[in-house]
Amino acid sequence: MTDERLNRPGDPCVMVIFGAAGDLTKRKLIPALYNLVQSNLLPKEFAVVGVARAQMSTDDFRQKMSRDIHEFATSSVDAQLWDSFEKRLYYLSGEFQDPSTYEQLQELLATVDQECGTRGNYLYYLATAPNFFNDIMWQLGTAGLAREEGTWRRVIIEKPFGHDFDSARALNKNISSVLKESQIYRIDHYLGKETVQNILVFRFGNGLFEPVWNRRYIDHVQITVAESVGVEGRGGYYEGAGALRDMVQNHMFQLLALMAMEPPLSFEADAVRDEKSKLLRAIQPLSPEEVLTQTVRGQYGVGTVKGSSVPAYRTESRVAPDSGTETFVALKLMLDNWRWAGVPFYLRTGKALPSRVTEIAIQFKHVPFLLFRQTPVEQLTPNFLVLRIQPNEGISLQFGAKVPGPSVRMGAVQMDFEYADYFGTQPSTGYETLLYDCMIGDATLFQRADNVEIGWSVVTPILDVWKALPPRSFPNYAAGTWGPKEAFDLLERDGRQWRRIDP
Ligand code: BG6
Repeated sequence: MTDERLNRPGDPCVMVIFGAAGDLTKRKLIPALYNLVQSNLLPKEFAVVGVARAQMSTDDFRQKMSRDIHEFATSSVDAQLWDSFEKRLYYLSGEFQDPSTYEQLQELLATVDQECGTRGNYLYYLATAPNFFNDIMWQLGTAGLAREEGTWRRVIIEKPFGHDFDSARALNKNISSVLKESQIYRIDHYLGKETVQNILVFRFGNGLFEPVWNRRYIDHVQITVAESVGVEGRGGYYEGAGALRDMVQNHMFQLLALMAMEPPLSFEADAVRDEKSKLLRAIQPLSPEEVLTQTVRGQYGVGTVKGSSVPAYRTESRVAPDSGTETFVALKLMLDNWRWAGVPFYLRTGKALPSRVTEIAIQFKHVPFLLFRQTPVEQLTPNFLVLRIQPNEGISLQFGAKVPGPSVRMGAVQMDFEYADYFGTQPSTGYETLLYDCMIGDATLFQRADNVEIGWSVVTPILDVWKALPPRSFPNYAAGTWGPKEAFDLLERDGRQWRRIDP
């Protein structure tokens, strides 16, 4: 997050995509690179080398990408611009575990360096299934392809980064035997979202909000990441993951950390990541008893989302008919630090919910009731500050105002800011900033080893308790509803309720 980012294209480099025949490459990575070309942020000396098992020639790969870009580009494709970009795509077919793949890669990279002037800087993107991460890293190390000698070698690692605390730690250990931490870029695509990056700017760039950002003024915080889609054919992966691993440990903890962390000393990568780690470390660990009362699991059954009928999760492809995997989670977390002591953070996420909404809603404390003795407490409008991460990106503030008329009655009104009104909409896949940052060596928006491990250390005990319990009677919410009843009880027990989100 340095000013440098605005002024220059990324360093000359080759981006080597492992798993280039998969979905991520055609849906996100190539469209993001194309957007970077359009905004003059991609270096002229740039190339992509796709590596995958699928048998294809470089020509085949170029043709495939040229077809796919028309489907997945976020704005219209300029033929001339694409033509010159397409010429910089190369492909190598090979097994990820086979040393000869890396010998061939080395030769190809030398050729590409000559043809494209990429100067031996390599950005490796691991877009494969996670079970290949260790092998690829090991092979890159053995082949000398991770060594920096007057050049740079960086690796972007996709999620999931481990499946619990031990596996994440083991993966970190393996990677660090090949790479220095400064070469490792663990990606969380939520950090590529403008509205997520704006959380820090909003908090620390405005004198107005920071003084009230603490337990004296804030009653509680609700973080919702709702998806209206189901598992969309990803049953094979999702069965082994579930909502807690898939969304909470990574994306939701990023939102929590940015919302609640202390001001960093600067926007330099380590300064920001130090504060994030400190915040995540402050999450009170849940005892097994607390897991029972402060966490809620759900799985969707048949229902209707936006007028279309949705099958039950258990009938999705590659999902067990008696699956115990959760597609919904709600949690109550407390932070053990000076700023947040006593302020609950309620998190919920789920699939097949009524709408797609990601938001952080901050509810401020009620006023003392002296002046409004006649008004029932529940009718006094709470002050809500809502950071809308997606869609309808913006920020709104709800406060009470006098309803015009002879009597003193209060109604809730909203002050609303929409990004689109002020800044227009910028076509984006969400990966542009992250790829660009890696090309300029800025790791601020990437996770450090300790960030990931702390996240896992919070969710692993929850997973352990869930595993030890008798199977849940799933499904327990209908697709198209806001999750199981227990998710509502979680807040009602504390005299609170989820903010109403209109579909
Ligand atoms: C991914 C999860 O990391 O994030 C998916 O694996 C989820 O299950 C997706 O659908 C949500 O991302 P976004 O950007 O659409 O909110």
